[in-house]
Amino acid sequence: MPYVFLQTFGCQMNVADSNDVAERLFTHGFQTIGDPGKADLIIVNTCSVREHAERRARVRIAEFCRMKKPGAQLWVIGCMAERLGERLMKDIPGVDRVIGARSLGRIDEITARAFPGQHADFTGIETTGEASDFISIMRGCNNYCSYCIVPYVRGPESSIPAATIIDAVRKKAGQGVREVTLLGQNVNSYCDAGIDFPDLIREVAAVEGIKRIRFTTSHPKDCCEKLIRTIADEPKCCRHIHLPVQSGSDRVLSLMNRRYSAADYRDRIMMIRSLLPKADITTDFLVGFPSETDADFEATLALVEEVRFTGAFMFAYSVREGTVAANFVDTVADAIKRRRLKMLIDRQTAITKEKYSAMVGRKVQLMIRGRQLKRDRLWMARDYGCKRALIACDDVQAGTILQAEVVRTSGMTIICERTAP
Ligand code: SAH
Ligand code: SF4
Ligand code: F3S
Repeated sequence: MPYVFLQTFGCQMNVADSNDVAERLFTHGFQTIGDPGKADLIIVNTCSVREHAERRARVRIAEFCRMKKPGAQLWVIGCMAERLGERLMKDIPGVDRVIGARSLGRIDEITARAFPGQHADFTGIETTGEASDFISIMRGCNNYCSYCIVPYVRGPESSIPAATIIDAVRKKAGQGVREVTLLGQNVNSYCDAGIDFPDLIREVAAVEGIKRIRFTTSHPKDCCEKLIRTIADEPKCCRHIHLPVQSGSDRVLSLMNRRYSAADYRDRIMMIRSLLPKADITTDFLVGFPSETDADFEATLALVEEVRFTGAFMFAYSVREGTVAANFVDTVADAIKRRRLKMLIDRQTAITKEKYSAMVGRKVQLMIRGRQLKRDRLWMARDYGCKRALIACDDVQAGTILQAEVVRTSGMTIICERTAP
């Protein structure tokens, strides 16, 4: 049987794509292997969102070129593959094939041609074996935020038919998945023949075996009250909203083409906090956007103080060739970008720690994810919001939901003890 080694960079959508690709390969007789040097096929699923992500992938791909055994193939797939196409094969000799994010539907046909005569003994097909899994509900993006490469590499927005999604969720539930995370660049604009995103959540919640539902990402411009009310009414929905704000300055938000103001964003936060007072709200920040002044950055810091996010992903702006912002000339110096990013990270990290510390003594509902490999009896879990947890207990398995109390925190993890249900 041929072996495949797959490495994934980028967002959860790429993780979902990699899982789909792996599943397709299993039907062609492949098994996964942990050692790339022994694989017949090495696949690197790439991200283009920042230059750094591309650089890391290139380093890894070059390593794999040196490592791969004679006769093995190296395929580069995903967003950077879409952006650069066959140019990558010239840049990095040893890459055998480039399959862009928008062509992954052809993976079956490509595999059948590259590895003819392979087919699975269906009794041996692997599953990821995880209790929590991702499901893409949409492809692409139409928002064209001026800094972002995603619409170019992922193409226009389209919603996957609800029936297809529900079938996929049922199948996963049958394989032991208990929590699904619904993925799209802007899940709020999901629409399939009159079924909107809140309707889809209700359909997913009705699938037997599914105990928890998460989703990402909500664009603030489309995050509506119907969605928040649906979450509040549906106990399977986790209490976590990821609502990327990017900046606290109206001038910068407008240049970014985000189509909301800082005041609109604050209104959304107020609406969420009034309907879901205990929800974790997390965000993304992008600092050092062209022309960002100290005053703009101060506005971002003011928003951080005011909203007190549970957590945030924070990035320095990276020019992406072909985007509108790539033509903006008044760029911010690297040293200033780095300084602002550090200030922001320091401030937000302190708030995150305060939020976690405030959890000590509280009751939480955990779902077990899997074993913490380093220590016996210790399990990794996730609370009803976005927090990672560790808990020592027996007689549980991935997917078990249990009641616990937070006894202390360690970095960005809550350490819990089991309590009576
Ligand atoms: N669809 C999601 C974001 C997907 S990209 C949304 O609209 O919120 C994830 C994050 O990467 C973005 O929120 C942004 O903060 C960051 N990002 C995107 N393009 C970037 C760039 N050119 N430089 C730095 N960070 C970027
Ligand atoms: Fe990029 Fe904006 Fe689309 Fe998000 S909504 S993927 S930031 S263009
Ligand atoms: Fe995701 Fe990176 Fe592509 S963030 S959509 S893998 S460019």
